This record gives sequence, C-alpha cells and structure tokens, in this order.
Amino acid sequence: MAEIGLDAITKSYNATVAVDDVSLRVGDGEFFVLLGPTGAGKTTTLRTIAGLEMPERGRVTIGGEDVTRAAPAERDVAFVFQQFSLYPHYTVYDNLAFPLRAPARRMAEAEIDRRVRKVAEQLHITPKLGNQATRLSGGEMQRVSIGRALVREPAVYLMDEPLSSLDAKLREGLRVELKHLQVDLGATILYVTHDQVEALTLADRIGVLHEGRLLQVDTPRQIYNDPDDAVVAYQLGAPAINFLPADALGLDTPGVASGAVRPEDVTLIAADAPADGSVPAVDATVTQVERLGPEDVAVFDWHGHTLRALLTPGQAISRGDVVALRFEPDKIMLFDARGRRVRRGADRNTAAGHGAGPMSQRADTGVRNAG
Ligand SMILES: Nc1ncnc2c1ncn2[C@@H]1O[C@H](COP(=O)(O)OP(=O)(O)OP(=O)(O)O)[C@@H](O)[C@H]1O
Ligand SMILES: [Mg+2]
Repeated sequence: MAEIGLDAITKSYNATVAVDDVSLRVGDGEFFVLLGPTGAGKTTTLRTIAGLEMPERGRVTIGGEDVTRAAPAERDVAFVFQQFSLYPHYTVYDNLAFPLRAPARRMAEAEIDRRVRKVAEQLHITPKLGNQATRLSGGEMQRVSIGRALVREPAVYLMDEPLSSLDAKLREGLRVELKHLQVDLGATILYVTHDQVEALTLADRIGVLHEGRLLQVDTPRQIYNDPDDAVVAYQLGAPAINFLPADALGLDTPGVASGAVRPEDVTLIAADAPADGSVPAVDATVTQVERLGPEDVAVFDWHGHTLRALLTPGQAISRGDVVALRFEPDKIMLFDARGRRVRRGADRNTAAGHGAGPMSQRADTGVRNAG
C-alpha cells in the first residue's frame, strides 16, 4: 500500500478546464472520497493518477515516487471503472484471473488460483466462479469488477462510482462490505462519487470537487458541520441545507450575504411560545409534507422563501397549516456574496486543525474585491 499525492494538477480538454490546480494527499491506508456533481472533474482526476491522461501542469506521486510521466502499466494502481468492464464470454474465474495472467507478470497458476479464490471469498462470489460473466446479477457483476482490482494487490485503488449503476438496496449492502474490506486490507482507496451518503459513510476524509476545483478537504463530520463554502454546505446533507438572504434572517454583519441552516436545526414551535433570543420565523406555511419513514420532512413557504425542516415523530402537520419556526442563531452559517463562509470569532474553536486565521480571510477580501 502507498500514499497518493497530487501537486497543483491542471488538466484541460480544449477550452474546458476539467481539473483546475488540484492538490491533494491521500494517506497510506486511507479511504478518501472525492465528492462532486456531474462534470466536476472526478473521472479526469482518477484518469490522471492512473496515467490515462497527461496533465498540462502539476505532479503525481504514488508511494512518494514521481509518476507524472510514467506509463499506466508502470504505476501500481488498479482502476474500477464507472461502467462494468467484464469480458462477457469469460467465466467469473477467468475474469478475475485475467489481470494476473498478463505475460509481463509471469505469475504461476497456483498463485493465480490462490488469489482468485481468496478474492472470491472476500466478495462472496465463490459459488459463481464457474458462471459466465453475463449470467450474473448487476450486483454480482460489480463484485467481479471490484474483484478484478483486488486480485492485483496494487499499491492504490482508484474507484470511479463503482456502485452507481446498482439499485438502492444493493448499493447499500455492497457499500458496507466495501468499507469492511478496505479496513481489513488496509487499502489506500481514492473513490469518487456524486452520492453524499456514500461519501459520508465510506470516507475517512472527503474532498469536495466543483467545476474542477477542490473546495474543501476534511473528515465527514467536519465537512458537514463546518463547511468552508456554500457549495460544500449544499453538497452534503439530504434534505439540503436552507439558504436565506441575510436581511430575511435579520443579519447585519458586514460582508454577510446569506445565512444557511440545516433542516435538523429548524424547530417547529407553538405559535404563542415566548421569544427566547433565537430568530423566529413566524407565519411559515406548510406547502408539502414528505413522509420518508423514520423521518418526515416538511417544506415551508416563509415570505416567499422555501425552507425544509425535519419533523420529530408524531408531529402532525399538513399542507396549508401555518406554523412558527425557530432557528438557533449559532446554527446559522454565514456566507459572503461569493459563497465563501464568513466565520464568527467563536466558530473557529470548533474548526480546530484547519490552520486558518480567526476569520475567513478569503471571504473577507473576496467581498471587498468584488465590491
Ligand atoms: N475526453 C474528453 N474530451 C473533452 N472534454 C472532456 C473529456 N472528458 C471529460 N471532459 C469534460 O471535462 C469535465 C470533467 O469531466 P469528468 O468526466 O472528469 O467529470 P465527472 O466529475 O467524472 O462527471 P460524472 O459524474 O458525470 O462522471 C466535463 O466538463 C467534461 O465534459
Ligand atoms: Mg465520471
């Protein structure tokens, strides 16, 4: 196993800057998830590490060794692609053995057999080893795809949305297994996804990629609780965080353009509850109630702004009801006009380890430059 390093990587396709000055370090044995919407540059980042794309600028290292100019075969990485890439006319066994039978490896059949059977056990596909690859369910095919990466026992694994083509149940099951497997193997994995649940559940650390730029790298907890950027805040959490203009929230902090509050931090209160210093949002009208099972989500209209709140079990409200909502003032995250976080002095205490100054300097100067 080994660590992966990207230093100021830029990769463009004609006018499109797919990866824009990205620097990143994935630690030895770390499960690192790159999260971003479609077109963010996730696949391009992986392909650059694998040597399938050549960056115009920057440096790629694997295990501390500069591989920027090395051919794909010279880099000890295994790639699990976004689409299954099995040989349909081969059996599962031969699909798994294939990467090991490359002439350059000169691996003995006994060793190949040992590795194939071990991986088949790990992925619970031993009974399917004799099946033709096409005679498998989608979930089994995806296990074989992952298995083909595992048999090689590479220094690092690159996984490009390996679960995205599966249905929700299978995805959940395989997600849990993949995490167990990674911990058992102590594998270094760079995993990309647009699914925030996958990112939050799998990652030791998450990097949020947007339009080719890495906006923030942090632990799942930190990135959810303390986003540096409005895009990051919006990427994490379902239902999504509520953004409101500063004036609607009664915020008059200089440089603050909007405030955001997570649905779980919006509380329904009785309309006649006494004021307690938090910001009341009276007269919100219920426009929809989504029954999700363990938690229900209510959608409100508040003076033309849409808000979502999690309901506690048994909270009986329905469409058309007018209710009072409360946001805890210290749960409201502040952002400038460009979407960069504006931190209150005290916020920094919860963001230990960031190494940033007492205020978000970028946010501050951003506003002045823009103005
Ligand atoms: N071979 C290519 N030629 C031209 N443009 C490309 C090529 N590959 C990717 N791009 C562009 O680069 C940008 C990043 O693409 P990339 O495939 O890395 O995104 P992604 O984050 O993997 O998206 P998705 O979630 O849809 O897979 C996009 O704007 C895309 O259109
Ligand atoms: Mg992609």
